Amino acid sequence: MKNIVLIGFMGTGKSTISAKLKELTDMQEIDMDEQISLNEGMSIPQIFEQYGEEYFRDLESAMLKELTEQKKLIVSCGGGVVLRERNRGLMKNLGAVVLLTAKPETVFERVRYSKNRPILNGNMNVEFIKELMDKRREKYLAAAEIIIETDGKEAAEICGEILNRIEEGKPA
Ligand code: S3P
Repeated sequence: MKNIVLIGFMGTGKSTISAKLKELTDMQEIDMDEQISLNEGMSIPQIFEQYGEEYFRDLESAMLKELTEQKKLIVSCGGGVVLRERNRGLMKNLGAVVLLTAKPETVFERVRYSKNRPILNGNMNVEFIKELMDKRREKYLAAAEIIIETDGKEAAEICGEILNRIEEGKPA
C-alpha cells in the first residue's frame, strides 16, 4: 500500500481519519502539526506568534521532503500545506493524496472551541470559514488525487472509501 497523505481544510477530520486508518492498517501515523510542535518544543499558536506564518510554512515543506524517504505512512497534513505550489509536488511524491471535504457549517461545529488554530483567531465564524475555504478551494483540488466528502459520515465509512479508492488505483 502506498503512503496515504491526508489534506483538507481545518476541521475536515484529517486527524480523526488518520487515527482510524492506523487502526485498520499496519501503517504508521504522522500528524505534521504534532510533529512540528514536538520538534520546535512549541505549540502551533506559539510558533505563529514568535516566528510568523512563513517560518511555519517552511517547516511544513521541509517535513514533507523528509518524509518522502519513508514507507507505510499515513500523513495528516496541516490545512494550509496546499498553499505552496511546490508542496503539491512533494505530496504527490510522498503518496496517494486524499482530500477530505466538509461544509463550512460542519467545519465550524468541529473547530468552534479550538484554541490551537491561529488562522481562525478572532475569526471563529461560519462566514470567515466559508470565505477562506472558497479562497483555497482550487489549491486543494489541484493537489488531490482522491476526494472524499465527510459530512454526515462515520469515520469507519470514510476510511473504507479511502482504502477502496486507493486499491482501485492500483495497477492490475
Ligand atoms: C492551518 C491549519 C492547521 C495548522 C495551522 C495552519 C491552516 O492544521 O497547520 O494552524 O492554515 O489551515 P489543521 O488543519 O490540522 O487544523
